[in-house]
Amino acid sequence: MESIYSFPHYYEIAFSYRDIPAEVDVMEEAIAKYSKIPVNTVLELACGNSPHMLELIDRGYTYYGLDLNPTMIEFAQQKAASKNCEAKFYLADLTDFKLNEPVDFLYIMLGSLYVGNTEGLLSHFTSAEAGLKQGGLYFLDWCIDFEPLSHTVDSWVMRRGGITVNTRYTTRLHDAAEQLYEENILFTIKEKGAERTLLHKGMRRAIFPQEFMLAATKLHNFEFVGWWNDWNLQQPLGEGRGEIVRPITVLRRR
Ligand SMILES: C[S@@+](CC[C@H](N)C(=O)[O-])C[C@H]1O[C@@H](n2cnc3c(N)ncnc32)[C@H](O)[C@@H]1O
Repeated sequence: MESIYSFPHYYEIAFSYRDIPAEVDVMEEAIAKYSKIPVNTVLELACGNSPHMLELIDRGYTYYGLDLNPTMIEFAQQKAASKNCEAKFYLADLTDFKLNEPVDFLYIMLGSLYVGNTEGLLSHFTSAEAGLKQGGLYFLDWCIDFEPLSHTVDSWVMRRGGITVNTRYTTRLHDAAEQLYEENILFTIKEKGAERTLLHKGMRRAIFPQEFMLAATKLHNFEFVGWWNDWNLQQPLGEGRGEIVRPITVLRRR
């Protein structure tokens, strides 16, 4: 079965449940509160179709995206070109990348911190610290596994322009000692009376909160700023038993 990442226009529909301007508001709120430098350049890691790109460019930022999938990058490039916007892209792996120049703000969305093992996590932070200016923020959307990933099941339906995409997201434990989970993202697409399915099947190493902290703040040059529930800087994570949904985390480059 073909991968969801070979068909960015279906990917874009499937994940269009996000309120992009509201999310960019939260990113700007974090910048205003916690960044020690002014922000002109932003880099999205694992940018895919670059959902926040146009909104960021509209607000005056220079956007860079980085992804290892050329089809996703091409789609994002065309999206920028169709609005006469300028954006630059790196075809690279987030576990080992080198930028022409460090940026002022780094971010990564939808739990896309895909590393296959501990070495990948550490080399990611080595690349990230080199790619971000001192005092700049690294903003992460749901990349830390605050709860075990065993048997996660989620599904939702999105529609746009006569196309319906039904997404089913599942994870299951593959190797407990290596913290490896198999991740499946299945699209069932209905378009012009026909149905097709696309699948992403991958292995992800879970990243638990305190090892994230250790890797970022003790082994690399980041300081911990905070983590919050549900994209809300008024809801710090901590004690309590409420559901953790779409947590965000902010680090600052030392
Ligand atoms: C869930 S999508 C996120 C796309 C987009 N940032 C968003 O918010 O919707 C994950 C993206 O990560 C990319 N990706 C996966 N592993 C990667 C890696 N090791 N380095 C760079 N990109 C990677 C995939 O190609 C895909 O475009």
